[in-house]
Amino acid sequence: MKIEVLPMTIIDLEEIAENLTEDFDDFWSASVLKNELENPHHLSSYYFVAKMNLEIVGFCGVSKIVDTLEVLNIVTKKDRRNSGIASFLLQHMIDFAKASQINIITLEVNEHNLPAIHLYEKYHFQQVGIRKKYYHGKDDAILMNLTINA
Ligand SMILES: CC(C)(COP(=O)(O)OP(=O)(O)OC[C@H]1O[C@@H](n2cnc3c(N)ncnc32)[C@H](O)[C@@H]1OP(=O)(O)O)[C@@H](O)C(=O)NCCC(=O)NCCS
Repeated sequence: MKIEVLPMTIIDLEEIAENLTEDFDDFWSASVLKNELENPHHLSSYYFVAKMNLEIVGFCGVSKIVDTLEVLNIVTKKDRRNSGIASFLLQHMIDFAKASQINIITLEVNEHNLPAIHLYEKYHFQQVGIRKKYYHGKDDAILMNLTINA
């Protein structure tokens, strides 16, 4: 399986926008992503797509603040999950962080999102805190960090 990770372009977004929720998930709207891509320096955010034979099979976004990289999202196409695509994307983000003088990568994840928690633990992210009832006033958010370039 050959996966390629590339910066997300507007053309990429147009390709996935119509069926974003059905194919990927309902966490992010195409209009939010479009705004991010059109104003990349506003939030120092960077978006990447994973492609297999030109098909977009996953994407992720990060925000860079001084020496910290926050993972904004990471998602694999529903029919391609559990085949290593998010691992590939996350490794790419870690490499990007290492090349960008980042010291710490942070993220938050729903306590019940076991696939995502497994993914982050695989890359040695560690739990550093909890935001109680963060999601819909119900589920806790687990805060996780990965220290790099230490
Ligand atoms: C979380 C998500 C990105 C993982 O993507 P993926 O491409 O399936 O992940 P990978 O195939 O790289 O798997 C990564 C690790 O998690 C494990 N994993 C993946 N899916 C799993 C599941 N349903 N249950 C348990 N473990 C799982 C894999 O076994 C793998 O570990 P291993 O290599 O030691 O076996 C994907 O499930 C997704 O898009 N979910 C919806 C969006 C989301 O919740 N994003 C995270 C927001 S914080």
